[in-house]
Amino acid sequence: MLSYRHLFHAGNFADVFKHILLTRLIVSMNKKDKPYFYLDTHAGIGRYDLSHPWAQKGREYESGIKKLWERTDTPVAMKPYMDIVHADNPDGHPRFYPGSPRIVRQLIRPIDRMVLTELNKTDCAALYDLFEHDRKVNIKLMDGYQSLKAHLPPPERRGLVLIDSSFDRSREFSRIAKALQEAHAKWSTGTYAIWYPLMAPGVIRGFEREIEEAGIRKVLQFELKILPDDASTIPGCGMLIVNPPWKFDTEMRTLLRWVWSVLNVNNAGGLKVHWLVGE
Ligand SMILES: C[S@@+](CC[C@H](N)C(=O)[O-])C[C@H]1O[C@@H](n2cnc3c(N)ncnc32)[C@H](O)[C@@H]1O
Repeated sequence: MLSYRHLFHAGNFADVFKHILLTRLIVSMNKKDKPYFYLDTHAGIGRYDLSHPWAQKGREYESGIKKLWERTDTPVAMKPYMDIVHADNPDGHPRFYPGSPRIVRQLIRPIDRMVLTELNKTDCAALYDLFEHDRKVNIKLMDGYQSLKAHLPPPERRGLVLIDSSFDRSREFSRIAKALQEAHAKWSTGTYAIWYPLMAPGVIRGFEREIEEAGIRKVLQFELKILPDDASTIPGCGMLIVNPPWKFDTEMRTLLRWVWSVLNVNNAGGLKVHWLVGE
């Protein structure tokens, strides 16, 4: 039984953080001529109506995309991401927020290929509706971890996998570490982006240790914390990137520092950029 619905959280600081990194990864993939493969293991519904009662319940987008939308000093590196959000809201008001499938669909080239998997039947049906008649988008009602087994390694040999779990089951950190280890064993040259919520320090340390012990090299870690530890929601979130593009750490450090300066509440938290496992 899947109870998590992303519409309650769409456009919040965690989405903004994740989608800025995702956009920069795809922009980087587009720099080389050869085709690539994109796999979104936990795709969601692809586009979110922020006027829906579920989104209005916590109005989480107000501390995320709404803050960025109002800025006039957005760094150039954010342009591809902001352009996609603006394209969904031509009347100048941020009502629709694009999810990872829609963001990537706007950026991939005709030679590239994308597969989206989603386990929630209703959400998967919404994805089919969104991309109806779009032959570039291959959607599957499927478990994201099974999808890693089924789709890797891709024939293109270049590609990006987004693992964006809803963390609504226990032991999800271990499940992800194991799935990543197995996927990497089959396809060690792919780029993997794994989102996670900032939980108790012991939990995060345990996750880091599992990744360190998985035999995977080149794991870059980003963490953005915008709230104090005693906040009623998660104070921040992180993303691990296996095989990031050249100089991605320095490029993103500058960009995410600016993002933190816009999103933080009362100067809480900060930004961490760190090689969890080096070369
Ligand atoms: C955080 S949301 C995804 C958001 C989306 N990636 C985005 O950035 O727009 C997580 C999604 O994973 C789905 N889900 C949960 N467990 C899953 C599983 N084992 N396999 C595939 N999808 C799953 C949920 O139904 C939910 O739609």
